[in-house]
Amino acid sequence: MKLASRMSILPSSGTIGMLELARRMEKEGKTVIHLEVGEPDFDTPSHIKDAAVKALEEGLVKYTESKGIPELRSAIASWIREKSGCEVDVEEVIVTPGAKHAIFCAILALLEPGDEVIIPSPVWPTYKDIARFAGGIPREVPLSRDYSLDEEAVKEAISEKTKMIILNSPNNPTGGVISRDEMKAVVDLAVDHGFYIMSDEIYDGLTYDGFRQTSILSFEDARGISVLIHGFSKSYAMTGWRVGYAVASRELVNAMSKIQQNTTTCAASFVQKAALEALRGPQDCVEEMRREYDRRRRALVKALNEIDGVYCPTPKGAFYVFPDLSAYVEDSVAFAEELLKEEGVCVTPGKVFGLGGEGHVRISYAASMKSILEGVEKIREFLSSMRR
Ligand SMILES: Cc1ncc(COP(=O)(O)O)c(C=O)c1O
Repeated sequence: MKLASRMSILPSSGTIGMLELARRMEKEGKTVIHLEVGEPDFDTPSHIKDAAVKALEEGLVKYTESKGIPELRSAIASWIREKSGCEVDVEEVIVTPGAKHAIFCAILALLEPGDEVIIPSPVWPTYKDIARFAGGIPREVPLSRDYSLDEEAVKEAISEKTKMIILNSPNNPTGGVISRDEMKAVVDLAVDHGFYIMSDEIYDGLTYDGFRQTSILSFEDARGISVLIHGFSKSYAMTGWRVGYAVASRELVNAMSKIQQNTTTCAASFVQKAALEALRGPQDCVEEMRREYDRRRRALVKALNEIDGVYCPTPKGAFYVFPDLSAYVEDSVAFAEELLKEEGVCVTPGKVFGLGGEGHVRISYAASMKSILEGVEKIREFLSSMRR
């Protein structure tokens, strides 16, 4: 079969390879500690599930408006107003089957072939892969050593071809965050140089040590030139439901909607009702999950930093740590495969996350405390068996 040449641009997901290897080992009867997963280990809260069941029983099984049911779009606008004090019009909201589809639609709607996209890295690989798929040219720029934004590096990467910068805070894979001042600096650069900002804030419900994520929507200057990406997967443990959203100018939302009309049509009808319940229903379930992640985060960071030669900045958000193992590891893919085969611990190789990722691994603490502590102990033993 002769596939379209654009398919050679799009790689398979870098994280799936490790999972497949782990699954094969499990089939052979081996036990694997899964610290590679990028999804909550909690079940979706029951009142959210009940809302979906009720919607199904009431016959909500047809296509909905492509941009999403009005009640959900309106609830998203209210939610943003309550949380960030930002006024959002319902026409500026589009509901999508997962935040990932919102990213896909926004990138396709904005990029011309040859447009450059600045992406502070290490970062979740989807942005870069989709930007390339759309004909764009990703320009990765390094983060600081503590995984904060390096403003100078961003400035240096700006060219006449810069069309967009993609921010992700709290960040996958580092857990690092972008402060209000850093965000403001990027907004000023975007206004001065005339580029767009995509701000993926999907992990903003999971922050620690008193940090609160400032939304891109809070900057008046950014309103016409930005797109907020968000969703229900992480805070509400709803990865399999496939529901997310974007907030942008009406013009961009309409363009994204045209792509959605011609691809997925809409997010699943009853799932949208569940998402509505997630926003309108009790929020203590989110806080309970956040507290448990926080407990695990502290234990994991402490245990990693106790290993000689390992440096692990304390993340302020999401549910990942990204320790620097470069004192031991040159090839993170080979290291992760060996760690899995020898110790039965599955982590994601840092190389997958682009510039600055090599020599690191991503460890997810969306796993039980027992798995985390056992996993780190095995990592410690494995590292000490290696020559530095
Ligand atoms: C930073 C980031 N954005 C978006 C997504 C995708 O979210 P969704 O499940 O809503 O498509 C992920 C999933 O891992 C992520 O890490």
